[in-house]
Amino acid sequence: MKGCFITVEGTDGSGKSTQIELLMKYLTDKGLDIVFSREPGGTEISEKIREIILDIDNKNMTGTTEALLYAAARSQHVEEKIIPALEAGKIVICDRFVDSSIAYQGAARNLGADVIMQMNSFALHGLMPDMTLFFDLSPEKGILRKKNERALDRLEAEKLDFHKRVYEGYRMLCKMYPDRIVPIDADRSVETVHKDVVEAIDRLLKEKHYV
Ligand code: TYD
Repeated sequence: MKGCFITVEGTDGSGKSTQIELLMKYLTDKGLDIVFSREPGGTEISEKIREIILDIDNKNMTGTTEALLYAAARSQHVEEKIIPALEAGKIVICDRFVDSSIAYQGAARNLGADVIMQMNSFALHGLMPDMTLFFDLSPEKGILRKKNERALDRLEAEKLDFHKRVYEGYRMLCKMYPDRIVPIDADRSVETVHKDVVEAIDRLLKEKHYV
């Protein structure tokens, strides 16, 4: 497929959003045609599914239902928005993707990576990211950053132990996919982290002949 698909991952509070903003500015300043999206969400239907998933009142939701809802939202997102944008040659940047499901539902909810990949084999429609940036910050530090921000959603409100398992899930993914996932130490200044992001992205853009 044409285009370039970049996903961004990290534990809650890893500084992902700030880094995505800087990355988008960097790419836009280069005159590149980019599409930003996020998961769960990215299309009208997927955003509705997002509301159900993150609703703090849905305390009885089982892990399997949660994983299937993330996959359903993803399926709609991939078919309606991501694949058409890539086919048009665009650079798609997505805040979270299937690795989040492996880390959160697979590792933290204990469903296992294999079950999550099986569920997502429908949702992905054969698509995987060209590059995934993983903002690496210990869950203890991430949770502290989030707590100071706003009311927590259902996933953020989970105990520290849950977030530690998410983090371990991501570490496992980094080992499994060293060619695709670029781990970036997020416990540094915004500028220093951004420099590492730019280095990785420049490499990808060259490989894909965008620059
Ligand atoms: P969001 O507010 O977008 O969090 P963040 O700013 O940290 O990205 O909420 C998304 C939440 O959903 C986040 O806690 C991670 C979780 N999530 C999963 O558990 N599985 C998934 O497949 C995805 C995409 C997200």
